[in-house]
Amino acid sequence: MLRAELASADRLHRVLGPIALTSLGIGAIIGAGIFVMTGLAARDFAGPSLMLSFVIAGTGCALAALCYAEFAAMIPVAGSAYTYAYATLGELMAWIIGWDLVLEYAIASCAVAHGWSHYLQAFLALFDVHLPPSLAIDPLSASPAAIAGAWHLGSVPIVFDLPAVVIVLLLTMVLVVGIQESASLNAAIVALKLGVVLFVIAAGFGHIDPANWHPFFHHEKGVSGTFQGAAYVFFAYIGFDSISTHAEEARNPERDVPIAILVSLGLCTVLYIAVAGVLTGMVPYTAIDIDAPIAHAFASLGLPVATFIIAFGAVAGITSVLLVMMLSQARILLAMARDGLLPPSFFAAIHPRFRTPYRSTILVGLIVAVVAALLPLQVLAELVNIGTLFAFVVVCAAVLIMRYTRPDVRRPFRTPWVPVVPIL
Ligand code: ALA
Repeated sequence: MLRAELASADRLHRVLGPIALTSLGIGAIIGAGIFVMTGLAARDFAGPSLMLSFVIAGTGCALAALCYAEFAAMIPVAGSAYTYAYATLGELMAWIIGWDLVLEYAIASCAVAHGWSHYLQAFLALFDVHLPPSLAIDPLSASPAAIAGAWHLGSVPIVFDLPAVVIVLLLTMVLVVGIQESASLNAAIVALKLGVVLFVIAAGFGHIDPANWHPFFHHEKGVSGTFQGAAYVFFAYIGFDSISTHAEEARNPERDVPIAILVSLGLCTVLYIAVAGVLTGMVPYTAIDIDAPIAHAFASLGLPVATFIIAFGAVAGITSVLLVMMLSQARILLAMARDGLLPPSFFAAIHPRFRTPYRSTILVGLIVAVVAALLPLQVLAELVNIGTLFAFVVVCAAVLIMRYTRPDVRRPFRTPWVPVVPIL
């Protein structure tokens, strides 16, 4: 049924090749997780064993990625885990997972917009430019001084994260205009972002003091801190699954989508372990900054040019994560609307000229802007991790179920060692 649906008229453009797909994956993966959350994970949970935390989280994601790859090649329509659940577990489960993916992508967009805002402010601070404190952060994280100094509407202080709102609305406009333009913008930013991550590794390598790696495990948390750190930096890997939401726009989805999923995840895992090693080697982990940890590590060693490059690259890099997250969100809603689980006249409407699901894109943009303006990053990140883990569990279960209920369906990519890999 799903494959027949692919032949119908109102489909998205098939414009994405393997490099564009991998680039969308990397665009979604490397962002606030590595640039922002490594700080808290190292300082409060894992210490230098953050390197191991990345290995643990990356291994878990790789197992899920193998399951995603099987589905993405078998059912290359928009919708990702939602579509797979619909095909295997029925409408109720699909409805649940659809809203779960909203938790993943929409809330991730909010979390990432926040991270973007904080790195932008770190960047502007290099030039001594500072926003009014009441427009720099969400009201729950704002200091009493920021609230007292805010403009008031009647007796209500106006406190919200202004840069987060601005970036979300700008990217919403890019997404309405089209996937081709979005993919090229994303590819340019991804190249810059990869360059900056490699720069962090190369420039930081010479400043590693191996003494900072002792003790290797957190002095209070020990080995359990390594696992807590893994649960937290799991956020940094989220995004490879979004490649499967673009299967419908892929030129050759059966081959290219599995390749893009596995290549982008593998590459990011290696880079993350290296960045964690450099960060914890440059600065004693108890002294790591938690807002802009990587830029701060270079600043603390008196390296202003490197700090500038990293802050700039982080802003650009986090932008591309936000772009892909918001793009994926609109695609999930599109898939749900096509199945009648949301009003199709609104959510499945494709723009006659741009060929994008413009109404749901705009709605997602407005909601993300409001939530990002008002809720703290930490809370949002934890929600995202919960939502994503649930989606992974459903996809792995669905691979197993399909192997028994529909062994006949052609699978251009097969998850190896079933049932061991999905169960693990
Ligand atoms: N993996 C994405 C990030 O790190 C969500 O920002």
